[in-house]
Amino acid sequence: MCGIVGYTGEKAALTPVLEGLRRLEYRGYDSAGVALTTTKGEKLFVEKKAGKLANLEAELNDSHDNSHSGIGHTRWATHGGPTDSNAHPHLSNDGKLAVIHNGIIENYLELRAELEKRGHKFTSETDTESVAHLLSDAVTKNGGDLAAAMRAVCNELRGSFTLLAIHSDSPERIVGARRNSPLVVGVGKGENFLASDVSAFISYTKSALELGQDEVVDVTPSGVIVTNLAGKVITPRAYEITWDASAAERGGYPHFMLKEIFEQPKSIADTLLGRFTENSQIAIGELDNLPELLSAERILILACGTAYHAGLIGKYAIETWAKIPVDVELASEFRYRDPVLTKKTVVITISQSGETMDTLMAARHAKSLGAKVISICNTNGSTIPRESDAVIYTHAGPEIAVASTKALITQIIATALIALYIADKNGALKPSEVSGLIEELLALPAKVEQILETAEPLREMSRGFKDATSVLFLGRHVGYPAALEGALKLKELAYMHAEGFAGGELKHGPIALIESGTPVIAIMPPQRSELREKMASNIQEVRARGANVIVIADSETVIPADVHVIRIPVSNQLLQPILAIVPLQIFAYEMAVARGSDVDQPRNLAKSVTVE
Ligand code: AGP
Repeated sequence: MCGIVGYTGEKAALTPVLEGLRRLEYRGYDSAGVALTTTKGEKLFVEKKAGKLANLEAELNDSHDNSHSGIGHTRWATHGGPTDSNAHPHLSNDGKLAVIHNGIIENYLELRAELEKRGHKFTSETDTESVAHLLSDAVTKNGGDLAAAMRAVCNELRGSFTLLAIHSDSPERIVGARRNSPLVVGVGKGENFLASDVSAFISYTKSALELGQDEVVDVTPSGVIVTNLAGKVITPRAYEITWDASAAERGGYPHFMLKEIFEQPKSIADTLLGRFTENSQIAIGELDNLPELLSAERILILACGTAYHAGLIGKYAIETWAKIPVDVELASEFRYRDPVLTKKTVVITISQSGETMDTLMAARHAKSLGAKVISICNTNGSTIPRESDAVIYTHAGPEIAVASTKALITQIIATALIALYIADKNGALKPSEVSGLIEELLALPAKVEQILETAEPLREMSRGFKDATSVLFLGRHVGYPAALEGALKLKELAYMHAEGFAGGELKHGPIALIESGTPVIAIMPPQRSELREKMASNIQEVRARGANVIVIADSETVIPADVHVIRIPVSNQLLQPILAIVPLQIFAYEMAVARGSDVDQPRNLAKSVTVE
C-alpha cells in the first residue's frame, strides 16, 4: 500500500518521478520522498516529508536538471508513524545509497540488532532502514555491484517487499526486487521506469514488463536485466498497456470515485466482452484447462472487504444455477483457522488489486492444502493472479478511488459468468435458460446507465442525511450482502456508523436500535419474490418505530405511497444487487462530499492493503 516510482534516462528525473507519485498517491499518502543521483560518487540528493505529496513538493525548489536517475515513494505507515524521519527513501550512513520499500520486512529487528553491532547508525523506526544498511554492506562485499548486492540481501529478508535502490557510484542504475508486493517495468526509448503499477508511467510509455516472485531487475536508460535470486537471467513477459493516460485521470469529474461510478456501464460491458459464443454459450477459455471446477463438490470464495461482499452475492448465482455448494469466507479468518479442504474443493479469490496480503496468503494456504485456485482480479500481472491456477480478469479499468465501486460490480459479473459456465458445461441449466440469463447480463449496462441518468434526485436527497449519526441497511437473500456493502461504503467514505442487516434478523435484536428519525435504507426483493412481503413487513416494523425509510425497489414492485422509493430497472433476482448497489454507492458518495470527507483517499485507508 505504498507508491513506488523509479526513472532513469535522458530527462531530469525529478519530473517523471513526481508525476508518477501523483498518479500513485492513492496507494498511500501519509508521507513522501525522493532520492536523486547527482555526480558519480557524490552524496545523493534526498528530500522527504510527512503528510501528502504536496508537502514534499513544497520543499523541492530546484528542478535538478543534472540528475537523470531517481526514485520516489508515497507511504502508508506500517512500522513507525508518518514522520519526516520515517518517510522513505532510507539511506546508508555515507548517504550514497537510498532504498524505498513497499511491504513488511518481518525479520527487520534481528537485522537491525546485527547492523547496529556492525556500527550502523539508525535514524528511523522503520523496517526499511535495515535494508538500506544491509544493502550498503552488500554493495561493498560485491565489489560495487548493486544488483548482486540486492540478490544477496533479498536472500536474508523475510516478509513482503518491493524494493528500489540507487547508489551514487552507479548513477544511471536503479535496481529493484519484489516478493509478494507489486513492481512493474515501463520500457521507454532511451529511458526506463519502475513502479508499483502502470498508472505511474503510462503517459510516457505503454510497454511494460511483468516481474515475477523473487526477481531482481537491473535498469539503466538503455537496458533491463531480470534475474532470479541465484543470478540466473530471466526473460520477463512483455505486454502493452491498454489503459491510456486519460483513463487514469478524473475525466472532468470532481472525484475519481464519481467517475468510476459513472464508468460502471462500460466496465460491465467490457467484462462481458468475448464471454459468449454465437450460439449463446459461455466462453471462459481461462477455465477450460481446469477440469477440477466442473467436478468440484464445493467452492470456497475468499476475499476481503467489498470483494468479500461480491463473493457473498456470487454464492447465490453459483448455487442456484450451477448447483454446487458455495462457502464465502473472509480471507483474514480463513488464513488462521484449520480449514478442511479436499481435492474436490475449488477456491475462488476475489481481489481488485491482486495484492491484498490477506487474500494472497489465504490463497497460498488453500493451495498448500491441495485446492485449485481461480482468481477474479482487476489488475493485470499482479501477485494473486500470478499464483493462481486460472485467472478471470475483470475489465473495470483503473480504479483509483480507495472505495471500490466498478471493481465490485464487475466482480459480481465474473461470479455470474463462472456460475453460468459451470451450469452450461454440467447441464445444470438448459441451453435456453443459459441464453436467457446471458440476455439478462447483456442488458445490465443499459440498466445501470438508466439508474445513473436518473440519479439527480437521489444525489440531492442523500445530502439531507449528512447530520445523521448512524444509518441502517436492510436486505434479504442477495439483498443482504448488498446491504452490507451499502453500510461499508458509508463507513469508509462518510466516516459515519452504519450497519447492514438481514431483514429477518431485525426482530432478533437490531430493531432495538430504531428510534424516531433513524435512517433505514431497505432493498426490496422483486415483486415476484416470496420475500417481498416479508421485507414489506420489515419496513412497516421500522416505520412504526419512527424510522425514516428509503426503499430501493424495481419498477414493478408495489411500495406504499408514503414511502420514499428509489426505483431501479427490473432484472433477474440474482443480478438485482448490481442494480441496487449503484444507488447505495451514490448515497455514500454524496454523504461523504456533504460531510467534507476526502472522498478518493478516505482517512486511515489505502487502495491496496498489502500487509496482514
Ligand atoms: C472497498 O471499498 C475497500 N476499498 C476495501 O474493502 C477493499 O474492497 C478490500 O480491501 C479488498 O481489496 P482488493 O479487492 O484489492 O483485494
